Amino acid sequence: MRGTNSVPVWCVVRCRGARAGRAMHVAGLALNRFLELVKLFRSTYRVKKSMRETESQQVMGNRIDPVRLQEVAAAVYRSIGVPEQDAWLAADTLVQADLWGHQSHGLLRLGWYYARLQSGAMQALTQTTLEVDAGAVAVMDGHDGLGQVIARRAVDEAVTRAQKHGVGVVSVRNSNHFGTCMYYTRIGAQQGCVMVLMSNAGPNMAPWGGLKKKIGTNPWSIAVPGGSYGPVVMDMANSGVARGKIYLADKRRESIPSHWAVDALGRPTTDPKAALEGFILPMAGHKGYVMGTMVDILSGVLSGSQFLDKVHGPYDPVNRSGAGHFMVALNVAAFQPLNAFHARMDEYLTSLKDVPLAEGHDQVFYPGEMEKLADTDNRSKGLLLPIDTLSDVARVANEAGVGSLLPF
Ligand SMILES: NC(=O)c1ccc[n+]([C@@H]2O[C@H](COP(=O)([O-])OP(=O)(O)OC[C@H]3O[C@@H](n4cnc5c(N)ncnc54)[C@H](O)[C@@H]3O)[C@@H](O)[C@H]2O)c1
Repeated sequence: MRGTNSVPVWCVVRCRGARAGRAMHVAGLALNRFLELVKLFRSTYRVKKSMRETESQQVMGNRIDPVRLQEVAAAVYRSIGVPEQDAWLAADTLVQADLWGHQSHGLLRLGWYYARLQSGAMQALTQTTLEVDAGAVAVMDGHDGLGQVIARRAVDEAVTRAQKHGVGVVSVRNSNHFGTCMYYTRIGAQQGCVMVLMSNAGPNMAPWGGLKKKIGTNPWSIAVPGGSYGPVVMDMANSGVARGKIYLADKRRESIPSHWAVDALGRPTTDPKAALEGFILPMAGHKGYVMGTMVDILSGVLSGSQFLDKVHGPYDPVNRSGAGHFMVALNVAAFQPLNAFHARMDEYLTSLKDVPLAEGHDQVFYPGEMEKLADTDNRSKGLLLPIDTLSDVARVANEAGVGSLLPF
């Protein structure tokens, strides 16, 4: 019997057997290599996963009682001459921002404010004066005091005027960065007023189409009494995100979405450092730029304060800020009985939330609800802050001589 090409059968069998053996050997080697690669991949994945877990454990500290943190911040303020009541207020605005989940405006900023107080760019003793006191309208001069104290006094002025005239408008000049707008608008809403607050800020956005920092993130907030739901609060910057969120990403060693900012040459970036050197993008394209401009005009031009790139932000330790604010209080009772308004708001919010849910969502939030839920959660569990923020708070507290109060 002959095999193919007249090769003897024994030879074919042997040769085929040898080839098959070689093939099996090769296949075996390949399989081994493949298994080795799988092993390598698995162990690399495990190492990377554990690195990521360790990293995230290192990035965030342990949960801390917010009251203890407020004590530290208040002591830091007092150490540099801020009066007791103002120190508590300023400390409360920081911790409250953290409680709402806005860590970009929380204790992360204590060191910046402290540096401004140290340099004298911001005055520890806040002495506000009324430059205009005309019925529903007031113009308040903050004389470079603490933005938090000035804004808090402006709330009282606006609400008192609204209770008397139906509307109260307070324009504020020569103030400083005050943190979140909603800290102040919520206070007025809890007193039966619709509150509007806006502020200009140090420049970090370019005018639409330009490549020079001129416009701040210029936030604004509207808070409305919300019946049994509590205040309904819109509070946002006119940039896609607050600049502080980019600082926070940097502190957490995270990248940022490419639509948040462009680098110094106008190119999209995911690197928070490059973003901070570059420009923050306005929200909703040109619309955010337009809104930011109007906020600057109302806060800076109308009040007689600084505007555009003449405003200095809290990151600048030496220059006086010149920030201006614009606050309006509308007394709901001047429009309709407050109880009726509360009932209508209840109906409104219940209806707003009562919709089928889109994929990936387990509820609809009304404006300000996420912050309210975060506040309840953080107050019961304690605050979880990035380690960088905690070490910065520790550095400032030690420098201020109040390190013994640190709860971590
Ligand atoms: N003082 C300053 O100069 C300054 C400058 C910039 C920003 N800020 C502050 O920074 C804070 C953050 O600003 P931001 O623009 O990043 O706000 P944001 O985008 O986190 O929230 C904007 C609004 O959207 C609501 N919201 C968020 N997620 C929602 C969801 N899933 N469903 C329903 N509603 C939702 C929030 O309640 C809020 O009213 C604000 O408190 C602002 O005042 C201050």
